[in-house]
Amino acid sequence: MENQTRRDALRKISLSLGGLALGSWANAENGAEANLQPLELTPPQYPPLEKAVTAITLGAGNRGNVYGNYATKFPTELDIVGVAEPIVIRNDRYAKKHNIEDTRRFKTWEDVFKVPKFADAIIISMPDNLHHASCLQALAAGYHVLLEKPIAQTEKECREILAAAKKHNRIVAVCHVLRYAPYFVTLKKLIHNGSIGELISIQHFEPIQHIHMAHSFVRGNWHNSRQTTPIIIAKSCHDLDILRWLVGKPAKRISAFGGLKWFKRENEPQGAADRCLDCKAEKDCPYSALKIYHDKGSWNYAFDLPEDKSKHAEAITTYLKSTNYGRCVYRMENDQCDHYVANIEFEGGTTAAFSMEAFTGYHGRRTRVMGSMGDIVGDMTTFTHTDFKTGKTTTYDVNSFDDGIYAKQGHGGGDIGLARNWVQAIARQDASLLTSTIEASIESHLMGFAAEKSRKKGTVEKIVL
Ligand SMILES: NC(=O)c1ccc[n+]([C@@H]2O[C@H](COP(=O)([O-])OP(=O)(O)OC[C@H]3O[C@@H](n4cnc5c(N)ncnc54)[C@H](O)[C@@H]3O)[C@@H](O)[C@H]2O)c1
Repeated sequence: MENQTRRDALRKISLSLGGLALGSWANAENGAEANLQPLELTPPQYPPLEKAVTAITLGAGNRGNVYGNYATKFPTELDIVGVAEPIVIRNDRYAKKHNIEDTRRFKTWEDVFKVPKFADAIIISMPDNLHHASCLQALAAGYHVLLEKPIAQTEKECREILAAAKKHNRIVAVCHVLRYAPYFVTLKKLIHNGSIGELISIQHFEPIQHIHMAHSFVRGNWHNSRQTTPIIIAKSCHDLDILRWLVGKPAKRISAFGGLKWFKRENEPQGAADRCLDCKAEKDCPYSALKIYHDKGSWNYAFDLPEDKSKHAEAITTYLKSTNYGRCVYRMENDQCDHYVANIEFEGGTTAAFSMEAFTGYHGRRTRVMGSMGDIVGDMTTFTHTDFKTGKTTTYDVNSFDDGIYAKQGHGGGDIGLARNWVQAIARQDASLLTSTIEASIESHLMGFAAEKSRKKGTVEKIVL
């Protein structure tokens, strides 16, 4: 009876996610009724800190607020004491939220380093092209760093940051948040505790979701690979990183294919215009900015809307008239691939097949892990383990995991997990409390740069660490 109730609950979760949850995917593949289990995981426990870690945020946008919110939630652990942000309303709101003194509010990141060091650490949550210079300055000034991915825009710049972290003996954590998500932590544990025998290969699928693609990689901040980074790094460095981490061995060779197929002028509908507000085909277009930003509110996080909700519609219209978010997806200056596949060979012969797809109606990474004595099929909501020796099939349900901290948080709890471990690593001067140090994280970037070379030149590329 209890099993029945849990099965019903899982089915409801699957339905509420549009039938995407693994309930349908894994069970169908394994051809068996799954034995449902809660996620078995105890996140690391830390004794209280004597003093909160102090940090300065460079870039008070979306990600700057994610990490800032950790400080408001856990003020005895993290205290934001400075901010650099050129957009006045963001700077004002951030300073107010964290009670930052006027003398420690700056317009741009360079200004922070014109005054003597006044915090333990720097949080770099600015656009990709500002990571390299600001991180080098932060390290030279003696700060520890929380560095948003991508580390930097080129392999050379990534290596320079690694060298500077070593030279100045500072901790640099890269925001590969998935490593801290209870789902992936448990997956790694199962792969390496003998549950599937020897790891043979992995298939990993990243469905970006078509609206997310349009928002971030056609219209948004990352639409141009030269101004930011190619999508295999800008978006999928998380996936290359998680593959490297799950396998537990370095990648040796990579080959890649992909391109930009759909979001081009030649595919625009009849009656298209530069902006959706003037478009005759807008009503039938799934990428209509009016639908995305007026009707589906969640993408509005990119706008600084007034506190007064009755003024939102007018403010959104102004954004759609004046920013890229109101432009036709077929008339942008975008060059990011909308489909991308890569094959990777790891030390010891384990292989991985990775696929990034823009054209899905759903989010949520899907991973199939194949071992000599078992396999695992997962979709970030649940995963199912089949033991070949016993034939037993067990489904682990992430939604059943609720420790009051990680559950139902951004990136499956990864955002909060990273912030928590980073704070502890700085406070205790112990980089081993982190899994995504610069030393570990750089590998995914080297894989990504090699994949781009392969995709453009039609070669199989060696990955040299
Ligand atoms: N780890 C993840 O999962 C994840 C998710 C999304 C974005 N990111 C990365 O985080 C970074 C920030 O992305 P975001 O979505 O928060 O973007 P965002 O545009 O919301 O925030 C960036 C902020 O930096 C500010 N900024 C620009 N120039 C500056 C300067 N000279 N000095 C100080 N601040 C400046 C901008 O005004 C903006 O407020 C990017 O590198 C992005 O790739 C990581």
